[in-house]
Amino acid sequence: MANTILVGAQWGDEGKGKIIDVLTESADVVVRTQGGNNAGHTVFLGPKKYVLHLIPSGILRKGKRCIIGNGVVIDPLGLVAEIEGLRKQGVKCAGQMFVSETAHIVMPYHRELDAQREVLKGKNKIGTTKRGIGPCYGDKAARVGLRMIDLINPARFEEKLAARIKENNATLKSLGAKPLSFKQVLKDYRAAGDYLKPFVANTVVMLHEAMQRGEDMLFEGAQGTFLDIDHGTYPFVTSSNTTAGGASTGSGVAPNRMDRVVGVLKAYTTRVGEGPLPTENAEISDLLHGMGREFGATTGRARRCGWFDSIATRHATMVNGIDDLAVTNVDGLDTVATIKVCIGYRHGKKRYDYFPSDAQVLAECEPIYAEFEGWQTPTDKCKTWKQLPAKCRTYLKAIAELTGAKLSIVSVGPAREQTMFL
Ligand code: GDP
Ligand code: IMO
Ligand code: MG
Repeated sequence: MANTILVGAQWGDEGKGKIIDVLTESADVVVRTQGGNNAGHTVFLGPKKYVLHLIPSGILRKGKRCIIGNGVVIDPLGLVAEIEGLRKQGVKCAGQMFVSETAHIVMPYHRELDAQREVLKGKNKIGTTKRGIGPCYGDKAARVGLRMIDLINPARFEEKLAARIKENNATLKSLGAKPLSFKQVLKDYRAAGDYLKPFVANTVVMLHEAMQRGEDMLFEGAQGTFLDIDHGTYPFVTSSNTTAGGASTGSGVAPNRMDRVVGVLKAYTTRVGEGPLPTENAEISDLLHGMGREFGATTGRARRCGWFDSIATRHATMVNGIDDLAVTNVDGLDTVATIKVCIGYRHGKKRYDYFPSDAQVLAECEPIYAEFEGWQTPTDKCKTWKQLPAKCRTYLKAIAELTGAKLSIVSVGPAREQTMFL
């Protein structure tokens, strides 16, 4: 398998967790490189459901090493809760999972500022997960962030925290929010620091040693291409590079050590939060929500749904260098009579065959659709490509061709067994 980067090729929630879990079987190390606990990656093992937020989805396979890289922003209290939650479900992290000492930490003022800024934005809000992700990455860029290495050094942490609380309390007060108690934050974070200390490591060296041993690594992207801070529908994005390049900067494994990029995409489109989604429509939203599907794994919010957008996914192939496609949730379209695929946008008199950079233009675009006959047969029991209905194969081949990468994995249900390799 060599070193594989797996990215979301749409707006997040493409089924990355499921595909990572499947691919981990033949990997040695799974690495998260960006995002934080805004992510929610779902993995089913039989009837048991796991939702991973910070911990790589590879943790569910015994003996696989999991790394939370330097590019991730870590809510220490969230991470402790996640480790404990897994322990109660019989999954052990100690000795198997390691956290970069240079990863930045999410503080309570980040969460509070995230919430307050959303209120201030009013109708222009982003619809964030309110996990403090934006303010934390903001502090990182402004060079005033606290890192894991600070958290596990009590004297240093206390000194830095005092300064940061002072400044942030002034900001919170100016926004009409309640200031934070230094004592309480110190107490909570000290406890989390003590708990997490054994997990903290120089993960850059660790990953390079693994490479020297010839181990295979899997880089688990969070969010999706169009939530990328540079390539997404700015400002309706998250605050990290969710595209393939983020895997290198967020781990310390150089681009020329990467062998393959897998793009995960749904057979249709979803988005949670605000911002443009050209193919959004009530028909498919109602259908999927009616089936009890497409509710957020982190916030529980109903996801907005639309037809497959090949202009977007082709752009994703470009910016990520996608080699292979993993198409998930094919079974979600099993009952649809006519399936639409966006093959261009109309904006006034102009036709776009590429993804416009301006989110406002994108919001005003009308999709141009091609239509496919639905297969109207259940696919969830299909085990091989040949077993899929012919119309389904035609559809999948067409969306892969439009996206411009090789169709390699097809997923017809949330379970490991509901996966076929082409
Ligand atoms: P992630 O954030 O990309 O890991 O995706 P999420 O876990 O947030 O959302 C994907 C949802 O789709 C989860 O509930 C998965 O269990 C589910 N899922 C993944 N692949 C399939 C599939 O092929 N069919 C069905 N029915 N569900 C799937
Ligand atoms: P996974 O890894 C889907 C969205 C939020 C919001 C925007 C900014 O499960 O695919 P943030 O809290 O990051 O500042 O919110 O990004 N968002 C996601 N949408 N899947 C995710 O992660 C997301 N993480 C953030 O809904 O629109
Ligand atoms: Mg998700």
